[in-house]
Amino acid sequence: MDLSEIRQTYETKGLDLSDLSPNPITQFQNWYEEVTQAEYFEPNAMVLSTTSPEGWPRARVVLLKAFDENGFSFFTNLKSDKATDLKTSARASLTFPWISLRRQVNIIGESKQLTAEEADIYWLTRPRGSQIGAWASHQSAVVPDREHLDEKFKFEEERWEGQTIKRPNHWGGFRIIPERFEFWQGRPNRFHDRLCYRRIENDWLIERLSP
Ligand SMILES: Cc1cc2nc3c(=O)[nH]c(=O)nc-3n(C[C@H](O)[C@H](O)[C@H](O)COP(=O)(O)O)c2cc1C
Repeated sequence: MDLSEIRQTYETKGLDLSDLSPNPITQFQNWYEEVTQAEYFEPNAMVLSTTSPEGWPRARVVLLKAFDENGFSFFTNLKSDKATDLKTSARASLTFPWISLRRQVNIIGESKQLTAEEADIYWLTRPRGSQIGAWASHQSAVVPDREHLDEKFKFEEERWEGQTIKRPNHWGGFRIIPERFEFWQGRPNRFHDRLCYRRIENDWLIERLSP
């Protein structure tokens, strides 16, 4: 397959400073609503990038579960590679690749672990199967085979039978507190629009970047 021949033209109305809210959270909210209205599959899926203790970049998809002025939150296993990374270096990047809408949003910021109370509130909304999975999986650890995982799942299912499943201490969340946002809108001729917000003390500076 010759990938060099695959070429899409990005015909969109573009993104100008006058289209933007002065507040990047409001701007994100506006785009998020448009992406949702377009029935984009999993609009809250975002690429979370971290740095390993050895300095390697690592990226994976996680689901955004809340966002507001305080930051962007997701949930995970607190012993996973990503959690280890964030405990070593709090700096993280989030990318929303809304490609069919010719859009991308990138956010960078420092992460903070959510409190036990915040994790408990979300834990209670999770389906029972996901709760069992959280007990059964030591996320990111090497396992011998699928059978081993299925046995662990069955074991936890039986252990919790007839009981409310409590949140494991190794399961919780992180909030990324944004320092910078970039809103990217695809345009023809690869001459895209890139508008960037940078936090300057308690305000946001908006700048246009060259495509
Ligand atoms: C669409 C999608 C959504 C995902 N959502 C989450 C999530 O919310 N939390 C999570 O821990 N892993 C999620 N995963 C799995 C992660 O991408 C990753 O495989 C896992 O968290 C282990 O990552 P780590 O070893 O880098 O810590 C998701 C994967 C996909 C493809």
